[in-house]
Amino acid sequence: MSNQLERIKELVELRAKARMGGGEKAIEKQHARGKYTARERIDMLLDEGSFEEMDMFKLHRCTNFGMEKKQYLGDGVVTGSGTIDGRLVYVFAQDFTVNGGSLSETMAEKICKVMDQAMKMGAPCIGINDSGGARIQEGINALGGYANIFQRNIEASGVIPQISGIFGPCAGGAVYSPALTDFILMMENTSYMFLTGPKVVKTVTGEDVSQEDLGGASVHATKSGVTHFTAETEEEAMQMIRTLISYIPQNNMEEAPRLECTDPINRLEDFLNEIIPDNPNQAYDMYEVIGAIVDNGEFFEVQPDYAKNIIVGFARFNGQSVGVVANQPKCYAGVLDCNASRKGARFVRFCDAFNIPLVTLVDVPGFLPGTGQEYNAVILHGAKLLYAYGEATVPKVTVTLRKSYGGSHIVMSCKQLRGDINYAWPSAEIAVMGASGAVAVLYAKDAKEAEDPKAFLEEKEAEYNKLFTNPYQAAKYGYIDDVIEPRNTRFRVIRALAQLQTKKLLNPVKKHGNIPL
Ligand code: HXC
Repeated sequence: MSNQLERIKELVELRAKARMGGGEKAIEKQHARGKYTARERIDMLLDEGSFEEMDMFKLHRCTNFGMEKKQYLGDGVVTGSGTIDGRLVYVFAQDFTVNGGSLSETMAEKICKVMDQAMKMGAPCIGINDSGGARIQEGINALGGYANIFQRNIEASGVIPQISGIFGPCAGGAVYSPALTDFILMMENTSYMFLTGPKVVKTVTGEDVSQEDLGGASVHATKSGVTHFTAETEEEAMQMIRTLISYIPQNNMEEAPRLECTDPINRLEDFLNEIIPDNPNQAYDMYEVIGAIVDNGEFFEVQPDYAKNIIVGFARFNGQSVGVVANQPKCYAGVLDCNASRKGARFVRFCDAFNIPLVTLVDVPGFLPGTGQEYNAVILHGAKLLYAYGEATVPKVTVTLRKSYGGSHIVMSCKQLRGDINYAWPSAEIAVMGASGAVAVLYAKDAKEAEDPKAFLEEKEAEYNKLFTNPYQAAKYGYIDDVIEPRNTRFRVIRALAQLQTKKLLNPVKKHGNIPL
């Protein structure tokens, strides 16, 4: 064999060795836990055969505590680029089979390299986390590595989409990289995220709690809102990330890909003309409205199990990707509270940062009253949503279906927050407050003096309703651009979005605003 062929053989052997990560035994252990390896995950995520690996031969430089014997080609992370539906993405996947995927200085360098490359190329960066945290043997160098990643997460925020998949442990300060990214997806049963684990919790607070109850996927999907998506299988998880990518642009200078639309744009949905119950206190399901008006009824929901009184997610109108924000009358009457406001605000900001138009469907009775809300700073959380809508410069189309009262009317993308096209259904009730509350304030004294206070108040309520509980007061002043037939909502939204294609609006030049955090 020639010298050159000898060297090529060596290369092939080294590659094969690198692809084995921490070795057969460790891979078996990973599979036995119901988990795939880093490379298997990347293969599932990317278009077939598109992965271009980087830094396959990189090694850690630590010699403390016998680490020179724990050397594996590529160290504990697999990095590189590939495509999803033909579009470039960068990816890193921590390899739990190599020293528990623990983060070394070298690993951090590899991750930072793909993040830098993603920024240069203007392409999304997807991180698959499965790690025991900072590599203990490296001490401060591992910490420095994390900090280098965090700094890049921060600089990339609002420039390229960043997505984190949590496919195993993610604990301690390590949680802050995912937390700084745009979207988190957690695996049910096999992943967890917490700042301090159950043992530390027990020592410090005496509380007995399992890993799952402290930071499992369902906790973060329902209680904390830390995760945006959960998946039962890794295959499902990768498909969800691919779907998410399909709705978003490559970077903040581009628009999301436009798909060909096979769903008729002027499709009438007669049932929408009858969906609003006669009784204003009765609920209906906002998902039915969303499903009826978007292309093919397809809605990719974000945070479906958190703050269900507001619905956020991606859909398409005539092939154009939009962010949908909608109050859900079926959950707490669609009231805005701390969690719903935060959830809505973050989504609105993502859409605005990445040039995705916003379609807002309004049926909101107001903000939730009470000490529980006030003590948790509903003032600041509500202000986040208000701020997010007010600063957004993307096309904003709003449809008021029924209630739109008081402060919540303003917050939900009203005309004065630079709403571009604000429609209302004939059933809209746009007013300072509901009739019974208003009449109670205005006629408290008169009611006491009336012969039949109940009948008196009912009469005044009817008067108030006639005057205010409709869309025409708002339309009279131009706060509503048109009152539309519900069954025609899809067509009207599509036409509004078409009109807004060339929208140009800039905020005043500033270093950055000071959103009430
Ligand atoms: C070095 C580590 C490691 C770590 C795991 N390993 N975590 N090596 N540093 N942080 C190694 C193990 O020694 C073992 O090596 C292999 O990875 C697999 O780990 P196991 O313990 O056998 O796996 P498992 O039973 O599944 O347990 C997984 C685990 C546990 C729950 C993650 O390993 C664990 O508790 N690790 C320590 C977690 C931790 O405290 N990390 C530091 C947090 S502080 P061998 O060679 O035996 O196969 C932190 C600060 C970040 O992260 C701050 C950022 C700002």
